[in-house]
Order: sequence, then C-alpha cells, then structure tokens
Amino acid sequence: MTTHQIALIPGDGIGVDVTRATVSVLKAAADRFGFALQTQGFDWSCDTYLRTGAMMPEDGIAQLRAFDAIFLGAVGWPATVPDSVSLHGLLLPIRKAFDQYANIRPHRLLPGVEGPLKATGFDILCIRENTEGEYSGAGGRVHQGRDNEVATETAIFTRKGVERIIRFGFDQARARRKHLTSVTKSNAQKYSMVFWDEVTREVAADYPDVAVSHMHIDAMAAKMVMAPQDLDVIVASNLFGDILTDLGAAIQGGLGFAASANICPDRSGPSMFEPVHGSAPDIAGKDIANPIAAIWSGAMMLDHLGESEAAAAILTAIETATAQGIGTRPGSHGTGQITTAILNALPS
Ligand code: IPM
Ligand code: MN
Repeated sequence: MTTHQIALIPGDGIGVDVTRATVSVLKAAADRFGFALQTQGFDWSCDTYLRTGAMMPEDGIAQLRAFDAIFLGAVGWPATVPDSVSLHGLLLPIRKAFDQYANIRPHRLLPGVEGPLKATGFDILCIRENTEGEYSGAGGRVHQGRDNEVATETAIFTRKGVERIIRFGFDQARARRKHLTSVTKSNAQKYSMVFWDEVTREVAADYPDVAVSHMHIDAMAAKMVMAPQDLDVIVASNLFGDILTDLGAAIQGGLGFAASANICPDRSGPSMFEPVHGSAPDIAGKDIANPIAAIWSGAMMLDHLGESEAAAAILTAIETATAQGIGTRPGSHGTGQITTAILNALPS
C-alpha cells in the first residue's frame, strides 16, 4: 500500500479549523481508495513567533523537504505579529525554497452556490507565477522616518521564470478548452511586461493548437465580472495573479470556495496546498469557517500525489453537499456540519 508523507502546517486562526476538517476528509478518502496518509503536524504560527522569535525553526525548510507534500491552513495574526513578518517568515519562503513556481487556482461555481454575477457557466483556471516578479523581495528603504525617505520594491522578471510559467499555462490550456489568456500591463510597464508579452509569443509557437489572447490587468478585472464564461486558462505575474484570484474567489461566491495549489512541477521539492483565504481572526475557533476551499485544496494535493480517483471523489462529495445547500451561504452551516456532509457523500 502506498503511504504519502504529508507535512501539516495549520498556522493561524481558521487555518487550524479548516486543516482539521481537511485531514478528516483526506484520511477517509485514503481508507476508501486503498492508500495511506502519514501526517506530521508543525505548530509553526504567529504564536510560535511570539514564543521563539521565529515563525519556523532555522532548519524548517530542511525538515519539510522530506515530505511528499505540504498542507497549509493560513498564516497571519496581525494583532500580535505584523503580516509582513509572519508571511515572510513562513508562507513566502516555502513557496520560493521549493521552487513552487506555479500557483494554480480554479474558479467556478459549485452546484447550489449563488455567486454575485448573472453569469454562472464559467470555469477559469488561474495560473499565477509564484516565485519572482513583484514578490522578488528586491528593494530597500533609506532615511527612514525623514522627509527624504525613499522606498523601492523592484519587480524582477527572469527569462527562465517567465518562460516556465507561460509554458505551464499552455500545458494546462492544452488539457482543457485550449485557450490561454496572458495578463500583463504592457501598455504602461514597458520593460518587464513587454518582455512577458514577447516570451508568451515565443512559447505560443510551440502550442499551435492553443488560442492565445493578451489582456491588460485592468481589462481582465472587468472581463472577469462582465464575461467570465469566455475565459479558460489565465496566466499572470505574482501580484497580478494574487489580485485576480481574490476577484475569482468573489465571483465563485466567496473565499470559502477558493482552492489553491503551489506546485513545484519538476518535483525537486514538495508542493504545498492551501486555501486562498487567510486566517480570519474574527471567526477563528468558532466552528463557522467554511472548510470547502481547504478540502478542495486537499483534493488537489491527492491529485498531485497520483491519487486522482480519490481526488475526484472528494470533489464530487463537495458538490453533492453544496447541491443540497450545505455550506453554500455564509453562516448557513458550521465547519463540522459541512465536513460531515462531505464525509457522508464520499463513496463507501
Ligand atoms: C495569497 C495571499 C498571500 C499572497 C499573502 C498572505 C502573502 O494573499 O496566497 O493569495 O499574496 O500570495
Ligand atoms: Mn491573495
């Protein structure tokens, strides 16, 4: 029997609630489909930071490397630790250290979920560059607090980094409806974004069967509201993808439904799976967080681990639950109730 080694980082706030829910569903699916999940929990969080002065130990990345995949709940507790500290101490270094350059985020309406739009038949896969661009961390501040203070934050785009994410996007498009939309802002940003457009055209030559559109980020924001059904795969830079995927979450009914996978495609390191939502301190520990985004992310993890039947069964179980109106509206059901409904809908 195959055993997959999973590192669990529940993190902060509702990250703890939704990780617990996800593990119960994943383990039930493992039982049904004849494989095992061996999980090891890591209590790396803002509490850990307050106790030890670090979000994770110095050898944290080395510890994670041994696992087949990482599941992360959420990071952030801004009342005690600034987000710029907690995220740069845990989530963002993991994405970079394991070269998880493809952040995949599906946006579609689950049955029974009423989104804010008239359009219902959309199915978007957003591919977000996840290791460089606006999140490169290149910059600095001088003359802090003075009138002549300067802050810079330089977006860095490398040929390797841009080419590989665009290629990844084309591969995804090829396996879907064969339409890729590259999102830039090359009318205003004349170096990096013009470069991105050029690389997209070069890579497109290898994918003659995939239709390519180029859109600016502002027009894409409007398109996702006005005509999301016309979109298939979107490829965008780190920050643009970050923003568009919160918009994607909104049109699919809210952050409670938005799943994500941070993929290291060459498998030189573990990939990491996490819901798009954050730690939501105001509802933490109250059994009211919607676990669907996290459980869907867990299904993406099983798919990545080769357990595609189990992954598909979890998705179907989520859809069965939402089709019955369970977990479809904020406050309609508790975390535990939604989880139980999904567990009950798994094949026996
Ligand atoms: C996300 C989050 C993170 C990001 C934050 C918490 C740093 O918003 O995963 O979308 O910007 O990548
Ligand atoms: Mn985000």
